[in-house]
Amino acid sequence: MRPRINFGIIGLGLMGKEFASAISRWCHLLDEAPIPVLKGICDTNKSSWNWYTDNFPEIIISTSDYNEILESDEIDAVYCAIPHHLHEGIYIDTIRSKKHLLGEKPFGIDKKANENILQVARANPDIIVRCSSQFPYFPACQRLIKWLREGRYGRIIEVRAGFHHASDMDLSKPINWKRIIKFNGEYGCMGDLGMHTLHIPLRMNWKPQNVFAVLQKIVETRPDGKGGTVPCETWDNAMITCKSIDPSTGKEFTLILETKRMAPGATNNWFIEIYGTEGSAIFNTHNPKAFKFLQTTGTEQGWNTIDTGSQSAIPTITGGIFEFGFSDAILQMVGAYMQEFNINGSNHPFKNVMLEETYQSHCIMTAALESHKTGKRIDISTA
Ligand SMILES: NC(=O)c1ccc[n+]([C@@H]2O[C@H](COP(=O)([O-])OP(=O)(O)OC[C@H]3O[C@@H](n4cnc5c(N)ncnc54)[C@H](O)[C@@H]3O)[C@@H](O)[C@H]2O)c1
Repeated sequence: MRPRINFGIIGLGLMGKEFASAISRWCHLLDEAPIPVLKGICDTNKSSWNWYTDNFPEIIISTSDYNEILESDEIDAVYCAIPHHLHEGIYIDTIRSKKHLLGEKPFGIDKKANENILQVARANPDIIVRCSSQFPYFPACQRLIKWLREGRYGRIIEVRAGFHHASDMDLSKPINWKRIIKFNGEYGCMGDLGMHTLHIPLRMNWKPQNVFAVLQKIVETRPDGKGGTVPCETWDNAMITCKSIDPSTGKEFTLILETKRMAPGATNNWFIEIYGTEGSAIFNTHNPKAFKFLQTTGTEQGWNTIDTGSQSAIPTITGGIFEFGFSDAILQMVGAYMQEFNINGSNHPFKNVMLEETYQSHCIMTAALESHKTGKRIDISTA
């Protein structure tokens, strides 16, 4: 019988449900890694419990106190999807309780909180601690990453990595914790979306040497949901340019990071564009099958598009020509996490976000705040 890892979920909102749904269809993956089983749920809002208890008969703990999850001998690992101001305390308590942790970004509300989490994680190396980031698991994006590893872009000229949202374009949308600094953090849109844009650049070791940022607050107030209006405090859009070095050539290139909550027409568009002297490629969830590429062989070049199917890093039961979507990317991401248990010698080709990568993302976002405030380019080459 395949080993099982019993999970608790802390934070049963949007992402808690995605995680639970993904592990409920584990049979989808053709993989030998352990099977995740949902045994415990925790949320201070008890009305969120029912969906879970209705759908997951193996749940034995439903609680509003996360310590009950952490103290239970029945739970091996925890997925935490809670507001950012709670990351530091709950992630640290989870690791200290010797539960494995798949946490959410930005992995601490600010750089200090991130450093405190990492200190405890490093003191507990037997505990698997990773940060969530699902978009690189789209098959077309895996193709773009494969090209990177094969050096098919030549010398990199420029990389643009971004995440564009448009739900905030609806100015009648009431405020929520993601638009309040106390809960979301000073980073605003960068804290929400930045780790997603940095997963591939940091994995490629394109560590930025310096950061120049322009941040925008566009929406000044929002309905409070009770008939009134409240200030909307957080940064809506951020444009960051960095000087990076590609370690495979030792050459500099420009890395542009875009995190926008006010991007007209963009539903949930995560993208990465790589421009090189020998090849270029684009992946954008706007057209999630498409691997767009060109190869530079002379003065004229043309873009080609391959429609990828569902050929994911972890094989699945889905036919190779069928479509891949958001919930499949979450399943693949959790699949990569489960392979970390290494029970059958598995070694995923693109692991979840590592601790050091969360720290690097905080260095970049903290420098971006300083850059915007001072109008200067901030050196982070020694960070
Ligand atoms: N990977 C992604 O694509 C993605 C998308 C959205 C959000 N996120 C991240 O996921 C995390 C959660 O975001 P969300 O959109 O699911 O938020 P959400 O508001 O939908 O859910 C958060 C839940 O946490 C609960 N909660 C608050 N305090 C708690 C406590 N002390 N103990 C237990 N539960 C508590 C809330 O009641 C709520 O149900 C954040 O870190 C966010 O940045 C990731």
